[in-house]
Amino acid sequence: MTVEVFAPAKINLTLHVTGQRSDGYHLLDSLVVFADVGDRITLTKAAETRLEVSGPCAAGVPTDARNLVVKAAQLLGVTAHIHLHKNLPAAAGIGGGSSDAAATLSGLCQLYCVPLPTPEAVLSLGADVPLCLKRGLVRMEGIGEQLSALGPSPGMHLVMVNPRVEVPTPTVFKALSCKENPAMNWPMNPTDWVLWVAKQRNDLEAPAVSAEPVIADVLAMLRAQPGCQLARMSGSGATCFAIMEDAQAQQNTVAHIKTAHPEWWAVACKALTGDQFSRETT
Ligand code: C5P
Repeated sequence: MTVEVFAPAKINLTLHVTGQRSDGYHLLDSLVVFADVGDRITLTKAAETRLEVSGPCAAGVPTDARNLVVKAAQLLGVTAHIHLHKNLPAAAGIGGGSSDAAATLSGLCQLYCVPLPTPEAVLSLGADVPLCLKRGLVRMEGIGEQLSALGPSPGMHLVMVNPRVEVPTPTVFKALSCKENPAMNWPMNPTDWVLWVAKQRNDLEAPAVSAEPVIADVLAMLRAQPGCQLARMSGSGATCFAIMEDAQAQQNTVAHIKTAHPEWWAVACKALTGDQFSRETT
């Protein structure tokens, strides 16, 4: 039997750093959605775990135990042939590796009819892995272990752009100057949620821009596009997203960025509403 799982990009619409734990991990308050673009993982029962990676963003992705999908199989104590089709850039702030790990856990549990590991064990794979098991609109607190489902994502015309620089998460957190900022100003306004999101922040944007100034160019270019309601960096970068007014503005923006910067990664996407948890069995 083969199970195919979808590992969507996660987008931090907001990301407030509200404190730091004694072990160095930062406390966050973040509003997250998942995109309808992501990696695809095919899992087949096998006597030994073997990982094969293909796809447009496969270059440099490890195929050994450094890869979180292999760690996910080891955590479950099962073995499988894993085919990972990488559509998402790595170390990009959109949860590529974490989402791959979460999807692998979920797929292997289905393949071997075993339950998911404990929340603590899932968190040990990475702070964003529990989050990536969710769908819809999610509020993430703590270091990523406190998750509140806020319902289906609102419909939105999104653009994601990565200038093809890898920003290591620890570097960005280390460069953060103020480690205690105000949490988000809840509740979210359901009638004008874009305006509400626009009033929040991503506290990692400034340190990421210091490390990779090209991120500021991406944000400036997105904000200059007609119909751009909001542009911000996701996670620890370097991927930035924009919420566009309509499908036309969304398509025009992607076309413009691809022409101006063919070396950048630019995609149009929409948020998975939450009832589209994609898992296919063949
Ligand atoms: O848990 P994960 O491997 O994704 O985290 C990578 C690094 O990012 C951590 O070692 C830590 O330096 C930093 N980090 C943090 N606070 C978080 C998440 C990550 O300081 N909430």
